[in-house]
Order: sequence, then C-alpha cells, then structure tokens
Amino acid sequence: MTKMRLVYRCNECGTTTPKWAGRCAACEAWNSLVEELPTAEAVPLVPGSVVAQPIGQVDAQFARPQPTGIPEMDRVLGGGLVPGSVTLLGGEPGIGKSTILLQLLAKWPTRTLYVCAEESAQQVRVRAERLGAVQPDLWLLPETSLPHIVAAIEETKPTLVVVDSIQTIAHPDVSSAPGSVVQVRECAHRLVSEAKRRGVPIVLVGHVTKEGGLAGPRVLEHVVDTVLSFEGDRHHSLRLLRAVKHRFGATNELGVFEMAGDGLQGVPDASRLFLTDRRTGVAGSAVVPTLEGQRPLLVEVQALTNPVPSGVPPRRSAQGIDHGRLALLLAVLERRARLALGTHEVFASAVGGVRLTEPGADLPLCLALVSALLHHPLPPDLVVFGEVGLAGELRQVAHAPRRLAEAARMGFTRAIIPANSPPAPDGISVVRVGTVAEALAAVGLSGRATRAA
Ligand code: TYD
Ligand code: MG
Repeated sequence: MTKMRLVYRCNECGTTTPKWAGRCAACEAWNSLVEELPTAEAVPLVPGSVVAQPIGQVDAQFARPQPTGIPEMDRVLGGGLVPGSVTLLGGEPGIGKSTILLQLLAKWPTRTLYVCAEESAQQVRVRAERLGAVQPDLWLLPETSLPHIVAAIEETKPTLVVVDSIQTIAHPDVSSAPGSVVQVRECAHRLVSEAKRRGVPIVLVGHVTKEGGLAGPRVLEHVVDTVLSFEGDRHHSLRLLRAVKHRFGATNELGVFEMAGDGLQGVPDASRLFLTDRRTGVAGSAVVPTLEGQRPLLVEVQALTNPVPSGVPPRRSAQGIDHGRLALLLAVLERRARLALGTHEVFASAVGGVRLTEPGADLPLCLALVSALLHHPLPPDLVVFGEVGLAGELRQVAHAPRRLAEAARMGFTRAIIPANSPPAPDGISVVRVGTVAEALAAVGLSGRATRAA
C-alpha cells in the first residue's frame, strides 16, 4: 500500500507545511504542528453525487430516530438513534460503556456490528452471555485498523455499528500512535462519512481524561452529531446518561441506570433509588427536589463540620457539589446568618454519585451545613430548594410545582421554598421565605445560630 502524502497543520493558525517543525513558521507558535491527511485525498468528491433540491422534496423519514429498545437511552436521545448519525459515548474507564452498548446491540432488531478494538471476541462473548446478549444478528470484529473496519462494514452490511473505542483504532497511513490527536480525528472523520454514506448509525466509545474531558481533540465533539456522557461513581451502582450535544433534539434529558449483575437496568423511578439508604433524624442532611433537565429527582445533600484549632486553615471538601458554590454559601452564612463556619472544617456531598449543578441546591446545602454545625436534624418529611444570593436573599428556581409534586409523590409533606415561587400543588404544605435567615428560623435553627456565632 502506498503511503498517503501527509501534511502538517498548525493548530493555532491553520497553516499547512509539508515538513514537521517544532515551531510554526507562520505564527511562530511552539509545538502546534500536527499530522494531517490532505482532505482532498481523505474524502474524494464525486461530481454530481450530491445535488441541491427543494426542501419539500427532502425525505424526512430518513432522519427519524429509531428506538434503541432501551427506554432510558431513548429518553436521552429524544426517541432513538437517527440513521446516518454518529454518536460519541464518553465516560471514565469501567463506568459501563461497553456493557450498555452490548445491551443496545443485542436489542437492535436487525444486523449489528460490534468493533471490539479493546477486547478479544472471546471476552466479549463471555460478557454477552452474562447480559443475555448472544444474538444471531450481532457480529463481532476484534480489529483496530480503520481500513479493515470500513471493509467489514461493507461486507456485513450492518444497520448499526459500535466502535469501542475511537482511541484504540488507527489508520495505518498515519504514523502517529492510536489515541493521538491526528489518529482520533482522522478515524472519526472517516467513520462519519461512512455513516452518512450508508445511512447507518454509528456509536463511538470515547474515553475521558482525569479532568473529565474527552480524550482526543475537541474537534471530535464537532465532528459527531451527538455527544453522550455516561457518569457515575464507580463505587456506586448508579449511572447517569446525559446528552452534552445533540443535533436532533434537546440536551436536557437524563437517563438513570443501575449496574446489576446482569448489566445496566433502567431506573424509571430514580427518586426512590436516591433516597433508599437515607437515615432520618441525623443532623447535616437535607433533601432537595432537584431538576435534571425535565426530570425531577429527590437527592440528599449531606454536610459535616468539625471545629479546628485556631491558626489551622479549615479544610473544605465538596463531592458532587461545586467547590466555588460551597465557598460562596459558607461566606453568605458567615456574614448574613453570623455563623462561625470559618473556624470549622467543612465536608459537603450530594449522595449517590449525583452532581448537583443547579442553583436550587443552594438553600438545602445551607440548611444541611447549619444543621451539621448545630447538631440539629431537619424534619424527616421536609424538602428544600432555592437559589441563594450574596445578600442572603432567596431567588426562585425553575419548575417549582414540578419539584413539589415529585416530593409529594415520595411522601414528603412540607417544603421550604423561595417567597416568590408559583402556587404549590396539592399534597404538600409550603413555607415561603425571603432570606436564608428566615429559612433557618423556619426550621428552628436561628436562635441557636446566634448562640453559636
Ligand atoms: P464496562 O462496560 O467494561 O466499562 P467501560 O467499557 O466503560 O470501561 O464495565 C465494567 C464494569 O462493570 C466492571 O467493573 C464490572 C461491571 N459489570 C457489572 O457490574 N455487571 C455486569 O453485568 C457487567 C457486564 C459489568
Ligand atoms: Mg469498555
């Protein structure tokens, strides 16, 4: 096979040169040149292969999503996988990417191809037995070379392809190692054009780095139609599936799964799962009806405080909660509720491996912190939500009625919410408060607060 002519492109200014250099001659950036196959050779243009047509004559049937057979996944994808689309599934190693995709392949009604570039066909077969996924129409290809993969797609004519993972496959004409920027980009481009040409959906597995970003170039996210992220704590069984980017629909849906002995099981009633291990009557715990996209979820927020000797800088640790947000709320409590949190080490976490990123979790976190500081448990049937401002004022958050309805459904009878929130649904009594101090008073924490200060 003749080697294709390579060029080197500067990541900073886009200039190409035939020779690699440590510094770009055009913009003088260091280490910015990366290998690239000339585009004209990579994707040959066939004259007349694409013609313009009136929008009314375009066959939209082609772009309708096909259900995956996994309801929690369809929920996130807005109905299913669109023919010809490319989806990137990102997640940390061991989180369950290969497992869920094997389950997806087994549920697909027609022929599928699983390119297992990281495992042998035997290993995949063993796992498939465990998952009940040994289906006659599921084909395995333990292969890392891109041209062989493309040839196998041509030969087996699957209606769904999974490539596990994009970082382990390589084009032999590119000398960089698998997983390098050039390889990942080149392979992704080729697979995208395969998907579009054949009208077959392709799912790529992508590993994420320690920092949480997808390993490989950012450009990968631009090339694909959909980016899904599979999250969770490896030590918990809970897994959350979100769309980070989705060309065919909304990105605010959440899929919830539980890792079991026989693979990932969808969890339609997620609130129940999050609260299973909750112990009531313990100080430092508050329950927040949070919203993940359109989906209300009840999540427990926990806090722990310990006094530290003077002169020792107090530790602040947050899990599933933004560090900056925790620092801000501690400052608000210190200043607006006169609580001596500055002399305490503080630990805060969202239980169950969830990440609470929405402002509605501010007030419950504040109540959990004060409850921990004063050793005073909150009522067991209480939920709390609301955004806290720097002046200690409470602001309403989106979809209060939906949050309250979910809390009522789970048996909670009382709620503390921002004063301006819309009317509450039946089945739950609400206390409306305007400031953090009022919220503390409403649960009997304020008198003690002054004493502790
Ligand atoms: P895997 O799908 O290999 O993760 P990834 O492809 O994201 O690296 O999942 C690996 C983990 O899942 C492994 O620790 C074992 C666990 N697991 C189960 O708990 N139950 C199962 O049925 C399967 C197949 C895996
Ligand atoms: Mg895997």
